[in-house]
Amino acid sequence: MLPYKNLIIVDKHDKTPVYRQISLQFIDLIQDGKLLPGTKLPSTRALAEDLQLHRKTIVAVYEILVSENWLDNLPRKGFQVSETLPVVRPRTYQKTISPFAGIGSFEFDNRDVIQFPLIPESTKNLIINDGFPDTTLLPYKILTREFRRALDRVTTINDLHYIADKPNLKSSLRDFLHTTRGIDFGIENLFITRGAQMAVYLAASLILKPGDKVVMSEPSYIIADAMFEKLGVQIIRVPIDQHGMRTEVLEDVLKEHDIKLIYMIPHHHHPTTVTMSTQRRSHMLELIKTYKSAVIEDDYDYDFQFKYDNYLPLASGDHGGNVIYVGSLTKVLGTPFRLGYMIATQEFLAAVMKLRLVIDIRGDLVTERAVAALIDNGDLIRHIQKSNKVYAKRCTILCRLLDKEMKQYLTYRKPTGGMAVWVVFKPQFELSKIARYAKENGLSIKSDFYFNGKYSHYNAFRFGFASLDEAKLKRAVAILKQAVEHFYPSDEI
Ligand SMILES: Cc1ncc(COP(=O)(O)O)c(C=O)c1O
Repeated sequence: MLPYKNLIIVDKHDKTPVYRQISLQFIDLIQDGKLLPGTKLPSTRALAEDLQLHRKTIVAVYEILVSENWLDNLPRKGFQVSETLPVVRPRTYQKTISPFAGIGSFEFDNRDVIQFPLIPESTKNLIINDGFPDTTLLPYKILTREFRRALDRVTTINDLHYIADKPNLKSSLRDFLHTTRGIDFGIENLFITRGAQMAVYLAASLILKPGDKVVMSEPSYIIADAMFEKLGVQIIRVPIDQHGMRTEVLEDVLKEHDIKLIYMIPHHHHPTTVTMSTQRRSHMLELIKTYKSAVIEDDYDYDFQFKYDNYLPLASGDHGGNVIYVGSLTKVLGTPFRLGYMIATQEFLAAVMKLRLVIDIRGDLVTERAVAALIDNGDLIRHIQKSNKVYAKRCTILCRLLDKEMKQYLTYRKPTGGMAVWVVFKPQFELSKIARYAKENGLSIKSDFYFNGKYSHYNAFRFGFASLDEAKLKRAVAILKQAVEHFYPSDEI
C-alpha cells in the first residue's frame, strides 16, 4: 500500500475544493505509473483516517474518479485503478522504469580486479572444480544435531558484538589447532573470521599502504593477486619450484627492497599444490628474524594431508610474532559454511577487530557454537580423517589415469594432500582450445583462468579430484584425452 498520507497533500488555502485537489493528485499518481491498473485503493474510511478528512470528502473523490473512468468500483472488491484508463493527458501509463535500471551518475572503482566469472555456469556437463570438498561426505545428522542445539540456545545469545569475548569456539579451536598444528598460542591470539579470505584481507590491509612492496610466489593464488592489486601495492614475485618458494631468491629480494609483507602458502600451495620443504622452512624462519617483515601464512588446506609425517606450519616455529597464521574450516565443513581464523599477536588482533567491525559487526554465533561442539566431541577430527582416506584414494586414481592416458601431453606432481592436482600442459598443446572442445563434449574445467586471459601462459589448471568419484574421474580424463586427440592426433605427435 502506498503511503497516501505523504503522497497526497491538501492545501486548505487553495481555492480548488479539497475533493478536487485529492482527485487530481490521484490522477497524477496514475499517470506517473505509481498506481498501476488493477491496484486496489484503500477503503474510503481508511483513507479518510489517513488524511484526517471527513469520509464524505473521500467518497466524493472516488465518485468523481469513477465517473471520469480513472477508477472502477467493483462489487466485493471496492475501488481499484481502472484496467482501461482514459487517454487524457497521457504520460506513462506503463510500469515505471526502476531507478536502479540506469547506471547512476557517480564514479566508482570498476577495475577488473578479478578476471574470471565468479558465478558458476549452469551446465549439465561434468565439472572439474579447482579443489572443492565432497559435500556428500559431510556427517549431516551430526551437523543437524549441533546446529539445532545451537539454535535452541539462540535466545541466550546476547553477546553478539565482537568486543564481547566468545570463548566457546575460541577455546575449542585453540585446542584443535594446538593438537593438529603444534602452534603455541592463547585464545587472546585467535580471531574468528568468515573464512580465510577475509582474514588475509584484514591482515594485508592493516599492514600495507598503497605503493608498499609485497612478495608473493610465482605463480600464485589469483584472488590474493587481485586483492593486492586492489590495495594498490607493488607485487614482487618469487618463483616456486618442487620445494616451495625459492627462499634464496627471496633473500636477494629482501636485501634489495623494503618489503612490508610476504604472502605465502607453504602447504599445498595454490595453485601448484607444492608443499615447502623443511630446509626452506628453516631458511624462511631465519629470513623473518633477519629482515623482520610481516608474513601472512595462508594455510587454507592444512587439514587435508594424506601422510602422517606432516610439516608443521611456520607459525609453530620461532618467528618472533611476525607470522600471521590464517586458516579455514570452510573446506573441512564444506563450501556452504563460512568459518576462518587468524592467529597473531594480541596487539595486531586488536587492530584487526576494529577493522572488521567496520565491514561486519557480528560473527555467526550459531555456526560458531555448532562447530565448537563438533570439535569438542571429536566429530570434526573424525570427519577430516574419513575425508582424507577418500581423497587420498581419489588422488591416486587420478594420477594413475593421467600417467596411463595423458602422460605425453602434460606434466604434474602428485600432491601430498589437498584436493587438486596442478596439471600443466606442454606448450605445444594449447589448453584453451582443448578445454573449449571438452566443454562442447560434456566436460567443463572451472579454473579456466589459468589458460585464458591474463594467466594463459601457465597453460595449466587445477584438477580438483576430491569431489569426483572413480567413475567421474575416468569420464573426465577420457573426455579430456579425446579433446586433445581431436587437435593433436597421437600418430602425429
Ligand atoms: C590459497 C587460498 N587462500 C584462501 C582461500 C579462501 O578460503 P575461505 O573459503 O576459507 O575464505 C582459498 C580458497 O580456496 C585458497 O585457495
